[in-house]
Amino acid sequence: MAGSLAVVNIGQLVTLAGPARPRVGAELRELGLVENAALLVEDGRITSAGPYSQLRSHIPAGATIVDAQGCCVTPGFVDAHTHLVFAGNRAAEFEQRIAGATYQEIAAAGGGILSTVALTRAATEDELLAAARRHRDWMLRSGTTTIEAKSGYGLERETELGMLRVMARLNAEGPARIVSTLLAAHMIPPEFDGHREEYIRWIEEELIPEVSAAKLAACCDAFCDDHALTVNEARRVLTAARRHGLRLRIHAEQFRPGTGAALAAELGTATADHLEAVTCETLALLRDAAVQPVLLPGSVFALRREQYPPARKMIELGLAIVLATDFNPGSSPVASMPFILSLACLQMRLTPAEALVAATLNAAWSLALGDRVGSLEAGKDADFLIHEFNDYREIMYFIAAPLRPRVFVAGKEVTA
Ligand code: NIG
Ligand code: FE
Repeated sequence: MAGSLAVVNIGQLVTLAGPARPRVGAELRELGLVENAALLVEDGRITSAGPYSQLRSHIPAGATIVDAQGCCVTPGFVDAHTHLVFAGNRAAEFEQRIAGATYQEIAAAGGGILSTVALTRAATEDELLAAARRHRDWMLRSGTTTIEAKSGYGLERETELGMLRVMARLNAEGPARIVSTLLAAHMIPPEFDGHREEYIRWIEEELIPEVSAAKLAACCDAFCDDHALTVNEARRVLTAARRHGLRLRIHAEQFRPGTGAALAAELGTATADHLEAVTCETLALLRDAAVQPVLLPGSVFALRREQYPPARKMIELGLAIVLATDFNPGSSPVASMPFILSLACLQMRLTPAEALVAATLNAAWSLALGDRVGSLEAGKDADFLIHEFNDYREIMYFIAAPLRPRVFVAGKEVTA
């Protein structure tokens, strides 16, 4: 937004100011809190964030003044793992799971991801856009300003490209920032039953080069699991993606150790996501390769499972953890980052400060956006939230409260 903006009367400003890299260990609890603060913005970028007493004389004449009324201001949430674009719902499977069926049993019977693939293939691109907009608006309203979004419900050329085009359109219309990830390696589609190798080869040799040349994705992901891709198949896809300039992420060890985390370390992927079943030895490999774990407690919760990823162990070992929703129609129909933060605190025993850093600054670094968003420091984009309270811990402590922060992206207030 052109012009000057000054947010004044901030009771508690969470800057997350510090070194320009993801936070580990005790750094995850350093919030750079400033009381009685102000935030100055010029043309959508932060020029300063600090005590009002020091900044008041720098507020330009004619600046738009926003009164935070003594409340807390934090960076906008960065949701680094979502399946934002899909058609339909899986409410019937929700009922099956309530009755006792597991996610894997439903998948093995041809439901799960493949049922959303059928619905998504049958939808028009405009229908997918309308559905994705609805999901995006839920996220914006609960304070998410940057969203990573994956394809993976097409598993053939036209629908995979269509999902990525929907993300590009959403990103262009704003205000949320969308980072696109190719996830054609989500499952082997039914047409390739008995010919898995051909599907993997098509992704390597045709789809990845086309997506990369058209700049339709920044990242590539693969779902490594007993019902999805083997470690060797995931290695092939991710290696090809890296050759074509895509950054790498992987769904690893959601249900069983040995399904992809060591591969993440071997390839030096940006992230390894899920990791509910990861072992301590593999965590050390991830740390040594600077892979960021993306923790998705919404999927553990919604699948009624008990094993959350070992977040405290990860922090102890020095891993730069990230929290995300995994928003999708099956394993995690959860769009709200505040709810994810509540789960992270209560089920994985993160402190509220650790959860907030993992959901903002560390998430931004995992998307190679750490120099632009995720903290409130001079030079960064002014993506921030004015909460209705003056203690950031209320974000996670009032569980599933219908919080309505004022949301700003690049200094402009969002009305979603
Ligand atoms: O991250 N695990 C694979 N992909 C998603 C689930 C997608 C779906 O069930 O539709 C996940 O949990
Ligand atoms: Fe996922």
